Amino acid sequence: MKRIVVGITGASGILYAKRLLDALSGKAEIHIIISYAAKTVAAYEGISLDGYPAVYEDNARLEADVASGSFLYDCMVIVPCSMKTLSAVANGYADTLIARAADVCLKERRRLILVPRETPYNRIHLTNMLAAHDAGAVIMPASPPMYTNPQSVTELADMIVARILDHCGIEHQIGKRWQ
Ligand SMILES: Cc1cc2nc3c(=O)[nH]c(=O)nc-3n(C[C@H](O)[C@H](O)[C@H](O)COP(=O)(O)O)c2cc1C
Repeated sequence: MKRIVVGITGASGILYAKRLLDALSGKAEIHIIISYAAKTVAAYEGISLDGYPAVYEDNARLEADVASGSFLYDCMVIVPCSMKTLSAVANGYADTLIARAADVCLKERRRLILVPRETPYNRIHLTNMLAAHDAGAVIMPASPPMYTNPQSVTELADMIVARILDHCGIEHQIGKRWQ
């Protein structure tokens, strides 16, 4: 079973994280880190992230297992990824467990997927995305396709979740693949 770290930060779109956790449950060992701001946004968006079969890590606890390169995990996803946490990752400013685990991912050459959410982007956001990309992260913006005619917001979110799972190497049956 793969071991996957899911960092959830305070950008809009907590539904992406919830649907990813739904899809990963039972398929991977999940470590969840939820930032303080993510809890606030989750409350505004009416989404609960409680009760998953996962290890819930405290974002302030920098001595947690996922903070060390010697603790092996297959990949990390930050979804949604705020511009603040993007900045921390792009600049190696590892003062939260989410930023530290992402830093570990990059130095250990593990897969790191960032799902940034903001609009419009300013120059700082764009340069931070480029820096994170150049350091090895996959930048996967929360901009789902519509040619699949999604019938609900959940279906729309699942289009991004399907791409995340593909990049994590987790098999799934979400949506139809283009033939
Ligand atoms: C309701 C709400 C929605 C927000 N949406 C976004 C967003 O879409 N993108 C973003 O970068 N920040 C957004 N923010 C601001 C972040 O939550 C804020 O910058 C925070 O410091 C991020 O901290 P974190 O990265 O540790 O979670 C939002 C804040 C609130 C209260």
